[in-house]
Formats: sequence, C-alpha cells, structure tokens
Amino acid sequence: MTIKRKQAIEESDLVAGFETVLNVIRPFVKGAELCSMAYRDQEEVLDYVVDMVVNEGKSLVVCAWGDLNVSAKELLDRVRKRVDHVELVPGISSVQIAMSRTGISLEHTIFVTLHVRAGTEDALDELIHYLKDGRRNIILLPCPFDLMPAGIAAGILSKGVPGNRQMTVFQRLTHYDEQSWSGTIKECSEITTEFSDLSWMVFHQPETD
Ligand SMILES: C[S@@+](CC[C@H](N)C(=O)[O-])C[C@H]1O[C@@H](n2cnc3c(N)ncnc32)[C@H](O)[C@@H]1O
Repeated sequence: MTIKRKQAIEESDLVAGFETVLNVIRPFVKGAELCSMAYRDQEEVLDYVVDMVVNEGKSLVVCAWGDLNVSAKELLDRVRKRVDHVELVPGISSVQIAMSRTGISLEHTIFVTLHVRAGTEDALDELIHYLKDGRRNIILLPCPFDLMPAGIAAGILSKGVPGNRQMTVFQRLTHYDEQSWSGTIKECSEITTEFSDLSWMVFHQPETD
C-alpha cells in the first residue's frame, strides 16, 4: 500500500474491488461505502458505482491487486469504458517483490504473461524465443490452473529449450506462507505437487564467462 493509495481510499465516497482485495484495504477505509464484486457480478457492481459517480457526484476508487499496470488491464478496461476520467494510482506489484527476492533488475529482464484470454500460443512462442536467445532474465506469469510451472517447463523442454537453465518459482509472495522453489527447468518439469494460483516463474539469465 502506498501513501497515495491510502489517501485515495480514505477520501473516497465509494470503494469497489474483488473481495480478496477489499479484505486487505478494509483497515484504511474511513467513511466509504464498500462495494465487493466477484467475476460473475463485476459488471453489475461497476454499473452501480459508476451510476453513483455520474448521477450523484460521488468519488470512487476501484482497487486492483499490486500494481494496476501489471496484468490488470481487463478490470481497467471495464472501468474506462464507463467513465471519461480515470486516474491511475500506481501500486507495488508482486513482480517487483519477485525481482527484489532474486535481485534482478528490470533492464535485464523480459516480461511474458500467459494470462491472456485470446490463446496462449503466441506468448509461448515468445517465451521460447527469449529462452533460446538467452540474453535476459525472463519473468513469466503462468495461467492458473491451465498452464502451471511443471507443465510449462515440460512444454518448453519439448521445444528444445536447454533443461539446465536455472529458474525459480515464487508462490504467495508477501503472504505468511510465502514459498520459493529453485532448480533447473528439467527438475521443474518433474514436479508433481501443485503450485499456488499466486505464482511467478523467473528464468535466470545464463551465466556468461
Ligand atoms: C492478474 S495478475 C495481477 C498482478 C497484480 N496486478 C500485481 O501487480 O501483482 C495475477 C497473477 O499475478 C501473480 N501474483 C499475484 N500476486 C502474487 C503473489 N503475491 N505471489 C505470487 N504471484 C502473485 C499470480 O500469477 C496471479 O495469477
């Protein structure tokens, strides 16, 4: 939580977001009406809160996990199509936490997401391209639970990516039960236990002599 986000929540008339997000920000809410949404009713909840903004002059904060510029575009688009003015208040992404845990920097890293609705083929091709290229770290957002770390590792091995490349899987970063696993792509492909839906994969840049 950044100071600016905390202030926005404290000063707003309405605060909307998924229940798991609202559970985190609840202590910062002063007088706002809390509007909890789920995937199935998000359109109705957004219609309601935006109606309060447009017709009753209320102020509204819609909360997203972490940073809203990291894989939160779907929610952002739903808000943007309803109102003319949206102020984006940046947050701290779980990607930044993963980068801090490994000590890698953005300028040495490629970001690939499999969290795409329109099919993952292109994203997987891009991932394989950059893994074979070998010049950067790669941070990969899996797609729970269709494409998870072990399956992804097995898939990229079958496409000729070297199995000895080092990687780390971070699970539930900043939560009390945070975990990380490190090993090679080949070892990851052999894991049979399930990973959390809150997981990031980091493929480390190969060491150069
Ligand atoms: C739709 S993205 C949203 C990311 C969010 N906007 C952010 O900046 O952290 C959700 C995905 O991010 C990853 N993720 C989010 N929070 C995480 C955490 N605390 N630990 C590990 N992975 C996380 C998981 O892969 C999850 O499926």
